[in-house]
Amino acid sequence: MFSKIAIRNFSSTAASAYKVTVLGAAGGIGQPLSLLLKLNHKVTDLSLYDLRLAKGVAADLSHIPTNSTVHGFTAEDDGLAKALKDADVVLIPAGVPRKPGMTRDDLFNTNASIVRDLAKSVAENAPKAAVLIISNPVNSTVPIVREVLKSKGVFNPKKLFGVTTLDTLRANRFLSEVVDTDPAEESVTVVGGHSGITIVPLISQTPYNTRISKEKYDALIHRIQFGGDEVVKAKDGAGSATLSMAQAGARFAGSVLSGLAGEQDVVEATYIDSPLFKDQGIEFFASKVTLGPEGVKEVHELGLLSDGEEALVATAKETLKKNIAKGVDFVKANP
Ligand code: NAI
Repeated sequence: MFSKIAIRNFSSTAASAYKVTVLGAAGGIGQPLSLLLKLNHKVTDLSLYDLRLAKGVAADLSHIPTNSTVHGFTAEDDGLAKALKDADVVLIPAGVPRKPGMTRDDLFNTNASIVRDLAKSVAENAPKAAVLIISNPVNSTVPIVREVLKSKGVFNPKKLFGVTTLDTLRANRFLSEVVDTDPAEESVTVVGGHSGITIVPLISQTPYNTRISKEKYDALIHRIQFGGDEVVKAKDGAGSATLSMAQAGARFAGSVLSGLAGEQDVVEATYIDSPLFKDQGIEFFASKVTLGPEGVKEVHELGLLSDGEEALVATAKETLKKNIAKGVDFVKANP
């Protein structure tokens, strides 16, 4: 006799069967991210692309008995185009990570051209895909992708995302350590961008605002903004966050897929081409958005901020403006 669990039907309906492609799938983030995507039942076709090892990673994951088929591609035989062909969701963690002493901006020179070239292929082979950018510096790589997609006539602001979910995860975890709660129950809104002072956690919107001393608050904000450095330092030259980032990327991709599948009230913070501060010349900004069948369904306002948060947002905007211009100018100079 079968137990109830054994006969539960996990097969996907047409409305929740998606092709998901990971570019940079054999890297520190790419491998665990691909594993977590293999466990997502909405993913029926998982395509893994990397300059190296993608076929090995795909063969390994393909033995896991979930309902997706896994294919690995390298640059040979038009592998990038094949990996991307008609994908619904594309995640891009391709590029180099930080070493101790580096900022995310130091990665610009290498990662800008990698992301630009991958975006060209996305435009040609998966023009309708939701595109999730993980490669740093996210504040600039997302504008780069927008410029490429625009130049190919396929840019859709509802479907381009900078993945800032790791900032949300860190904020939830670090806040829970300060106020001694279950981190899984916390949901801090983090807005702005994805590097140092552009990361703005809105602690005043949590129930603990008045329970945290000024000293602890300042330390908490700093830890959320620069938490990535803890990992870079601890890995001592071997890279930056990969496992927590994989979890963050899989969560965000899962939410995008839930939105595409028509599930209700799917909300995540993410860095997008945003209407919020366009009138001030800030074309991209991270805030909460509701995700739906077309991608971004609604961009949420920041809500009520404390004076301190107003100041943090103002500082973030100044830096973001420069980071965005750097990405846009790069594509203009190096189309
Ligand atoms: P990694 O070096 O371990 O892996 C990168 C992978 O990209 C490698 O397998 C490499 O072969 C591949 N790659 C390089 N050029 C490529 C190309 N043109 N086409 C396809 N694949 C290519 O690096 P890791 O640790 O996985 O980090 C990847 C990126 O993610 C870095 O830029 C890092 O800064 C960023 N990152 C972003 C975070 C976020 O919160 N958004 C958090 C942590 C890292």
